[in-house]
Amino acid sequence: MNNAVTARAHTNIALIKYWGKADPKLIIPQNSSLSLTLDPFYTDTTVQFDAALTQDQIKIDGQVLNQTAGQRVRDFLDLVRQRAGITAFAQVNSYNHVPTAAGLASSASGFAALAAAASKAAGLTLDQPALSRLARRGSGSATRSIYGGFVEWQKGHNDLDSQAVPFQETIDFDIQMIAILLDPRPKKVASRAGMAQVVATSPYYTAWPPSAEKDLIAMKAAILKKDLNLIGQLAEANAMKMHATTLSATPPFTYFEPETLAAIEIVQSLRNNGVSCYYTMDAGPNVKVICSAKETPAILTRLRQHFPADHLLVAKPGPGIAYL
Ligand code: DP6
Repeated sequence: MNNAVTARAHTNIALIKYWGKADPKLIIPQNSSLSLTLDPFYTDTTVQFDAALTQDQIKIDGQVLNQTAGQRVRDFLDLVRQRAGITAFAQVNSYNHVPTAAGLASSASGFAALAAAASKAAGLTLDQPALSRLARRGSGSATRSIYGGFVEWQKGHNDLDSQAVPFQETIDFDIQMIAILLDPRPKKVASRAGMAQVVATSPYYTAWPPSAEKDLIAMKAAILKKDLNLIGQLAEANAMKMHATTLSATPPFTYFEPETLAAIEIVQSLRNNGVSCYYTMDAGPNVKVICSAKETPAILTRLRQHFPADHLLVAKPGPGIAYL
């Protein structure tokens, strides 16, 4: 039980968004979602339980987390301890290989890596579905980062059936993403708070879960057809439906910044000129372009006219969880 265990999890970006919880404590979502796991964005986390420690010691990128920031991690470690029947505190060292403040879902790779490393270090032997359910308790989007490629998080009904399943782990057609980093500041409204506010106050929210479930069915068919244009159209429409719920919340809020619209306009104008590219956005202003590797050079050339080259990050489909 004293052994240090290191796990690597890649981040994922949802093509059909998870937005709203049916059970906030267990993180059971209101709708199923579907994502693409991305490479080279990942988190490496080492966990060691040690009876000599008097409290959990949590470091992210070499910095000790303060009480408040560390609470979510400590709560998660408590869950692991409870399941493993142990009481020892843990040393956690986590390194994000995602450019700083990229807003690229670090809670997804972070809690997936933590779930894998902490459960094994605590002596638990979990298969991938069980690991996915455990990661879910840290952050909803982490549920999907257990698997590579296209991953579906089936919302389920309870702690034992709300989990991810691989939809297509090996992708044999040309699809990737370009993340455009627009704003390095911390999110104005965290995804957890944003979706809670929307569920509680937006009169449009009731339309979201059934609409997202329809989009998910269409997205799975588009992936099976390897139809990049249809995948992009569906992802774009689904993301904008999610963002429409923030404007209709009380008080209203938006993740859009002026540069978000500039990025979207560039994607639209490229498309009007025959380049297949689409966009998606999460709980922050950054825009992710969905495109093929073949067309990426032309898209990058256009984007570099407006954004600094080091704000444009190209990601291809990535793998599932691994122990190092
Ligand atoms: C917009 O997984 O960050 O990125 O479960 O509260 O930790 P918590 O939320 P989080 O929400 C992600 C929301 C999203 C869409 C998605 O990834 O599906």
